[in-house]
Amino acid sequence: MKDNKQILAEKLALAKLGGGQVRIDKQHAKGKLTARERVHFLLDEGSFEEMGALVTHRTKDFGMEKQVFYGDGVVTGYGTINGRQVCVFAQDFTVFGGALSETHAEKICKIMDMAMKIGVPMIGLNDSGGARIQEGVRSLGGYADIFHKNVMASGVIPQISAIMGPCAGGAVYSPAMTDFTLMVENSSYMFVTGPNVVKTVTNEEVTSEELGGAITHATKSGVTHLTAANDIQCINQIKKMISYMPQNCEDKPTDIPFELGNEVRDVLEDIVPENANQPYDMRHVINGIIDQDTFFEIHAAYADNIVVGFARLGGKSIGIVANQPISLAGVLDVDSSKKAARFTRFCDCFNIPLLVLVDVPGFLPGTDQEWNGIITNGAKLLYALSEATVPKVTVITRKAYGGAYDVMNSKHIGADLNYAWPNAEIAVMGAKGASEIIFRKEISVAEDPVAKLAEKEAEYAKLFANPYSAAQRGFIDEVILPKDTRRKLIKAYTMLENKVATLPKKKHGNIPL
Ligand code: COA
Repeated sequence: MKDNKQILAEKLALAKLGGGQVRIDKQHAKGKLTARERVHFLLDEGSFEEMGALVTHRTKDFGMEKQVFYGDGVVTGYGTINGRQVCVFAQDFTVFGGALSETHAEKICKIMDMAMKIGVPMIGLNDSGGARIQEGVRSLGGYADIFHKNVMASGVIPQISAIMGPCAGGAVYSPAMTDFTLMVENSSYMFVTGPNVVKTVTNEEVTSEELGGAITHATKSGVTHLTAANDIQCINQIKKMISYMPQNCEDKPTDIPFELGNEVRDVLEDIVPENANQPYDMRHVINGIIDQDTFFEIHAAYADNIVVGFARLGGKSIGIVANQPISLAGVLDVDSSKKAARFTRFCDCFNIPLLVLVDVPGFLPGTDQEWNGIITNGAKLLYALSEATVPKVTVITRKAYGGAYDVMNSKHIGADLNYAWPNAEIAVMGAKGASEIIFRKEISVAEDPVAKLAEKEAEYAKLFANPYSAAQRGFIDEVILPKDTRRKLIKAYTMLENKVATLPKKKHGNIPL
């Protein structure tokens, strides 16, 4: 007769095997890691403690009582990433294709509850054929339980979802409600309905990859924030991303020890071209300001007229929102406003100070933008930055025109410190456009209208194409040399470290969605 230890060892060995070696081999043949391998690579060596390894489903329909696998298609537990506690679930595609049963959902809910109780990030590694078809509505109920917990956890603990296989139907809404979604190229996809249903309903022919692959969601829909070439790269991105975040909304991101020295950066002097119409890459400005090699860009391939991401400044974690002059001259449009608003709100939830770099000619005009709601969507960014109570610092590197000046973390909407470089132009619009409007009559009756326009343009530029009108009113706290920006910002964030700001008592605000 087997002794107790033997019985336990056998059960745990079976749990480790998931759906069995044949299915594990199939998973590997697709270039994918198994759930357990993913957890192994995500967490510090030996730190993983599993919960619920011996859970099984309770279904008797369709002969399911004969197909019972320990763990029921999801590995759940806790461990550390670079010494920091996290909770994790990893769906196991080798068990019923990772499909979500009632008990599978219960395991996910239980580990989410644990993450909330102890205030640590929740990381979900998704790889699932969706609702466990044999369980019908019980499985759908399980999804809804998870969705509800995602919402309750939102803004309390960071939630990160990696899509490392299929994620279709209702399953997509859990990742969608978490803070960041990552997708593995060529082995993952997300859609509410697959290519077959699409063909039936709309008569469109589309592949899974085109409809909801990693590149599609990174570029067209913005559903995914990051893509990775393979599972390992995806896991490494999660680890890196999490290093900029605190454990929960009452915690602060951990500083990295940093020896301050001469923080003047001459490289910043030569990035912005003299000609205000010439583009430059704002990422060069970002890299000139921050600690070396610390920029972690989010959503890089989506709405690239704005750049968002985490970085470190003097060892401290900050979130950066920056107009990008090399794409659409850095205008604000529907997508860039949504992208920046969402990122701003994440930083504000989790006490990550914001740096806003401004070079914006205004909002993108046109029927496409108006009909797609640039008013409501632009308002999202205005709302998010106004509402944020974390330290908020602005640097205007060149243009800050029109309503976009207000939106991009102006003094008026609550920025703590506003800097401008000497070449900044803070005005209602560019000098040419402004002169054409306000001096129209004078120009039209002039002997030489072209010369008159040039004269008026120069007159307007002298008055407004500079930062001094704004500085006189205190809308700009200081006009600084580009090379001093890093030095000033390090001091600014140190000064603002203990900032206290509270919002008026309310149930919750009503951001224009
Ligand atoms: N419920 C129960 N079992 C499921 C399942 C589900 N939703 N999805 C997949 N499985 C099982 C399969 O029966 C198969 O079992 P087996 O290992 O015993 O043969 C295993 O998971 C792997 O599925 P398979 O179809 O062989 O893998 P694939 O890589 O070729 O295809 C999917 C993956 C997800 C595209 C495909 O399984 C599928 O379309 N599943 C159904 C999706 C769905 O409609 N879900 C419900 C609505 S949300």
